[in-house]
Amino acid sequence: MGVRGLRNGAIVSFVVSMAILLVGGYFAVDKVPPIPAKVVSGQTAFSDQASIMRGQNVYQRYGLMDHGSVWGHGSLRGMDFAAHTLHMIGQHMRDFVAAGGQPQAGAYAALSDARKREVDAAVIDEMRTNRYSEGTKALELTPAQAYALEQTRAYWEKEFGQGDPHYGFLPNTVRTAQERKDVADFFFWTAWAAGTKRPGLNYTYTNNWPPDRSMGNTASTEALLWSLASIMALLAVLGTVVYVVHRYGFFYGEAKAVEASYKLLRLPVTPSQRSSAKFFLVAGLLFLVQIFNGGLLAHYTVHPGTFYIEFIGEMYPYSWAKSWHLQLAILWIALSWMGTAIYLAPLVAGREPKGQRTMVNILFVAAFTVTVGSLLGQVLGIKGYLGEAWFWLGHQGWEYLELGRLWQILLFGGLIFWLVVVYRAIGPVLKGSPKETEDAADRRALVTFYVLSAIFVVAFFGFGLLYGRGTHLTIADYWRWFVVHIWVESIFEFFGVAVISLFLVTLGLVTAKSALRVAYLTAILVFVSGIPGTAHH
Ligand code: HEM
Repeated sequence: MGVRGLRNGAIVSFVVSMAILLVGGYFAVDKVPPIPAKVVSGQTAFSDQASIMRGQNVYQRYGLMDHGSVWGHGSLRGMDFAAHTLHMIGQHMRDFVAAGGQPQAGAYAALSDARKREVDAAVIDEMRTNRYSEGTKALELTPAQAYALEQTRAYWEKEFGQGDPHYGFLPNTVRTAQERKDVADFFFWTAWAAGTKRPGLNYTYTNNWPPDRSMGNTASTEALLWSLASIMALLAVLGTVVYVVHRYGFFYGEAKAVEASYKLLRLPVTPSQRSSAKFFLVAGLLFLVQIFNGGLLAHYTVHPGTFYIEFIGEMYPYSWAKSWHLQLAILWIALSWMGTAIYLAPLVAGREPKGQRTMVNILFVAAFTVTVGSLLGQVLGIKGYLGEAWFWLGHQGWEYLELGRLWQILLFGGLIFWLVVVYRAIGPVLKGSPKETEDAADRRALVTFYVLSAIFVVAFFGFGLLYGRGTHLTIADYWRWFVVHIWVESIFEFFGVAVISLFLVTLGLVTAKSALRVAYLTAILVFVSGIPGTAHH
């Protein structure tokens, strides 16, 4: 296929893939597990929507998603709060039922095996029956569930108040009793959604996730079939790609001699290129701090909440180490991108616009401020020092997008400014002339591809601003994955192949045409796989 066909293929792939994801989101929006207006048992009110949402905010503000997970999303080493709560609910309900409708801890253990099986079946049936009323928006709990709710509240009060070395929870991980109660109600709701059938269907709101046989959660036939089909499809598509790439010689452009390194050495370094050095220096430092935090995470996995230097274990919780481990990675990657694009611009354009170095320095100061501010904010947020400003300045609570909303907006603004800085240098190259040769046109197309990929990097970060402080968990996660998944599985590759291609062509190692072919093919592959693939989250 020619370059033009591949380019059109890349455009169609992007449009179709985004349409699939957005239309899917549109139809899924009213299928989110309902958050009941009130949670009652008989005449007694137990909880309500406000309490559950406050609880979600507590989960966010103390960075608990970086300590554990909900419905499988969050830190992999910590507990899944929904799964843990669901399992506990089952235990308490079994005790309640075993004691003939009386709250009595340990009653279930005293039963015979045959009687235990009866109680198990009764509790699974009771939990899976959906007692949420669409009309009144009320969730009716059975007496056993109401008992379980109270017991799980007591459990979370202890875990987050006194702390628990087993899970690495420091004392006062969640600072006030009210907040601990609210977060317990939130976890109870997530467990309810994970263990109760969707109306009219034979599996739960979370498709029987997490698996827990004691609560009747086993993978549905559909889930198994689709997983199997996906693995087969992956193998089939991989085989096809390998075949097409070699059959049509995608990587066999006419490589030029490896004079390139000499050429690069001989090129003069412009002032803005020199200025870009500090981006790499800071990125390197951030990388070092990041892997130290990774080491600490690995240590905490084995020895939760303790360290050789005692005060570190006492003041540096898992959630802090995990948040920084992820945020530092994003920040040094972002800084490296910025630095690379700034360095590359004069190479590609063959000139440097006036005042470019000052612009680069302003960008550096802005990026550095956001880096320091967001990292400090996360710690202060986790420690509960920011009060109601937690969402804006502290820890927003979503894994990978931990940084407070103000820092997120500033980073978005900084990235746009970065585009402007790079465009100033590279813009003139984008203008074609009627007499340009085919090779020059291909080079220009490659630069356009590169600029577009940089715009995509920034635009997709913007999707993270589409949820707010009180957004439903499922919807917030939908947009969060637009940034995290599409960045990692599509845009990184898109941008990466653009930078590498441009670099290779600028150095004279490959022709613009062969680089373009590879770049477009990569774009097609990462769009059709990465974008709709977001749905698996
Ligand atoms: C010595 C180096 C490193 C060590 C010891 C380390 C250790 C760890 C540990 C223990 C976790 C699990 C945290 C959890 O989910 O509970 C983790 C997660 C993670 N690390 Fe590292 N890490 C290192 C370097 C890196 C580097 C260089 C990067 C990226 C540039 C990175 C990116 C990540 C990411 C993205 C996760 C989250 C995975 C997920 O939740 O799905 N790590 N790391």
